[in-house]
Amino acid sequence: MLIDGKQIAAEIKEELKQKVEHLKEEGISVGLAVIRVGEDPASKVYVRNKEKACEYVGIHTNTIVLPEDTTEEQLLKLVEKLNHDNGIHGILVQLPLPKQIDESKILLAIDPKKDVDGFHPVNVGKMVIGEKTFLPCTPAGIVEMLKRSDIGIAGKECVVIGRSNIVGKPMALLMLRENATVTVAHSKTKDLKEVAKRADILISAIGKANFVTADYVKPGAVVIDVGMNRNEEGKLCGDVDFESVSPIASAITPVPGGVGPMTVTMLLVNCVRSVENNS
Ligand code: GUN
Repeated sequence: MLIDGKQIAAEIKEELKQKVEHLKEEGISVGLAVIRVGEDPASKVYVRNKEKACEYVGIHTNTIVLPEDTTEEQLLKLVEKLNHDNGIHGILVQLPLPKQIDESKILLAIDPKKDVDGFHPVNVGKMVIGEKTFLPCTPAGIVEMLKRSDIGIAGKECVVIGRSNIVGKPMALLMLRENATVTVAHSKTKDLKEVAKRADILISAIGKANFVTADYVKPGAVVIDVGMNRNEEGKLCGDVDFESVSPIASAITPVPGGVGPMTVTMLLVNCVRSVENNS
């Protein structure tokens, strides 16, 4: 079975469109501020995709593009201004930031009530202890995609490959919250193949093109590919070698059209939640 992230994302966007419409009738226009610093080509594409998705469901965006040599102080000032802007319900600072800026300081400055990425330490803490909060978009999108595909999570062996703050770590926590038995594997894991093979649900977020081949996958496993890599020919491809893995997996996400559209959609979900929780 192919897990069609694009289709599931489209369903959620239709639901959101209606919610946004209702809020408009109540006089509330949902607003997201997106800050991009510098001209990183991948960030440009990601930000453009987020703007387009917002526009589609009726969320208004205010994208602020700052030059590569922006100082930490300048960016902190802008975040502070947006924290107090009543028309803005979500603030997203596109990562990575130029090296003169300390990412953690910026994330800490965002009002947790507007932190639609779910990266503020207060929101990360709430996620860890299972309190209601903004959840990071990629892991939350994966859980939503599994649920909407009727793939049970409770009691399953889940192996997450990768331990980043944006994907791997929160992914492991959300699968734990859904009562999976969770293993986090990474570049220092011994016998990665053997560990990955234990998985009923294998989630790869390592950033290496076609790394996960059939010998990492138990027959019948569900395989979720978070990778967004370019191969030697410059073609977009995931972490998973789709050709060899798809015949043995019971379900698999494609790249593109799998996790990516879900990530953007969960950002929209978080923007609408921000209004519902704070107004
Ligand atoms: N860079 C890569 N992924 C993300 C994301 O989900 N949010 C932000 N803000 N930056 C990113």
